[in-house]
Amino acid sequence: MPKQRESRRRLKGSATPAPPGAKFERAAGVVGMGLMGTSISACLLAAGHSLQCVEIDPSKLRTARKRLLKVLEQARSQGLIAVSPSLLMERVTISADFSVLKGAAIVVESTIEDPAVKCRVINEIEEVVSRTTLIGSNTSAIPVSDLQRDARHPERILGLHWAEPKVRRRARAAMSA
Ligand SMILES: NC(=O)c1ccc[n+]([C@@H]2O[C@H](COP(=O)([O-])OP(=O)(O)OC[C@H]3O[C@@H](n4cnc5c(N)ncnc54)[C@H](O)[C@@H]3O)[C@@H](O)[C@H]2O)c1
Repeated sequence: MPKQRESRRRLKGSATPAPPGAKFERAAGVVGMGLMGTSISACLLAAGHSLQCVEIDPSKLRTARKRLLKVLEQARSQGLIAVSPSLLMERVTISADFSVLKGAAIVVESTIEDPAVKCRVINEIEEVVSRTTLIGSNTSAIPVSDLQRDARHPERILGLHWAEPKVRRRARAAMSA
């Protein structure tokens, strides 16, 4: 089977979530529902996670569900996900309140490329999540060690670099320090 078709077939398989009503043990979180955060959210949903998202800008917050649904519909029309986008959207909570992240097994921070903002956001995430929650920071160029410096538990902070558009290109780099 050609490489591209094989990778598409595997993605379809991995995108088949548990049946409606199933309990999702591994909730994921995303902070910052901009360009990257929205399509990272689509990837996490397609992988079968329930999702809790934070967006503090009121106008972005108002449109976040619609933008996420659009990314999922594009992925569905390209044959990349097998499940109805509206069904996937039932597993999504989007709020301005960080407390929605409580219970997430992994949280991906995808706010603006400013170390001070990212460090503050990581502190806010750490206030509400459990000791074992992994925290990924989606950054273009900020050294992970800078983001770990003020963290309560630096060892669980990962640097991530997702490739856009994420639902089609499944590549991402992860850095621990
Ligand atoms: N755009 C790309 O192709 C690309 C690729 C790889 C990595 N990145 C990195 O990903 C990150 C996000 O990029 P983007 O293009 O999605 O930016 P964006 O401006 O589209 O989105 C950032 C979002 O974060 C929100 N935000 C800001 N402060 C917040 C806070 N304190 N709490 C919650 N939400 C907050 C903003 O309102 C906005 O919706 C950046 O660090 C960027 O460098 C971007």
